[in-house]
Amino acid sequence: MAQIVYLNGTFLPESEASVPVLDRGFIFGDGVYEVIPVFAGRTFRLAGHLQRLENSLAAIRLDNPFSADEWARLFNELIERNGAGDQSLYLQVTRGQAVRDHAFPVATKATVFAMSNPLKPIAPELLAGVSAITLDDIRWQYCHIKAISLLPNILMRQQAVEAGAQEAILVREGEVTEGAASNIFVVKDGLLRTPPTGPFLLPGITRDLILELAAANAIPYQEGRVTPQELKQADEIWLTSSTKEILPVTSLDGEPVGTGSPGTLWRAVWTLYQEYKTTLSRGEGAG
Ligand code: PDD
Repeated sequence: MAQIVYLNGTFLPESEASVPVLDRGFIFGDGVYEVIPVFAGRTFRLAGHLQRLENSLAAIRLDNPFSADEWARLFNELIERNGAGDQSLYLQVTRGQAVRDHAFPVATKATVFAMSNPLKPIAPELLAGVSAITLDDIRWQYCHIKAISLLPNILMRQQAVEAGAQEAILVREGEVTEGAASNIFVVKDGLLRTPPTGPFLLPGITRDLILELAAANAIPYQEGRVTPQELKQADEIWLTSSTKEILPVTSLDGEPVGTGSPGTLWRAVWTLYQEYKTTLSRGEGAG
């Protein structure tokens, strides 16, 4: 079945969708995006994603083209047209088409694009543990914005891949921030820790859910700075994102993490996460 996408008010086959070359998304990377998992045809944690989209748009001074209800209707139609089930929904809003000039154009219409593709199940070998390398965080000072300009993230992820690892864990001025496309958790002596939100990392929706699950299940946790030394000495390291869910890191910079196998707290929280998803898929959860 041809994938159906949404572009500026129209649903159409992906092969027929195109954007003018002067779109500021293409010319400058001037836009923001979201990636929303869809389970059994239902968007996962939609309110959180829409709030983060609102924050990203406000941060780049672009009006939100739609209300939350309008976004939800658009997503539901897109999901339906692509056969429901489990999908990964991507949406992007750019500052639209204008003669190339760094300063904002006076009047342009934002470009709104969304696509939804079948969600690839997490490969079982990833759940057996992934490797990561640490790298200097070469990004800018506004990492809380989910900006489409991802060149540093791409370069760092590629460096990880070329080192035989799945992810780069980033360090800025002596503090671990996050992964190139994921948030980071560490476990030491039963305490779950993750760096605090702020300008140097993306406030992940998966990260939020994990903190909620920890609170609801009496798992001790803390948001606080994590040093590279603490990362190195952690019993467990996890990567989290909408597409990876929660992955155990079992090798860091070529050295085993903890026992070198996925940890017990990872297994417990991963199970809670799967149960939460199942509840949502049955239509019982809040979403
Ligand atoms: N990325 N940090 C960064 C830099 C990310 O790019 C992502 C997700 C996350 C995790 O956020 P969430 O839990 O809301 O997915 C953290 C998406 C999946 C991507 O770019 O494809």
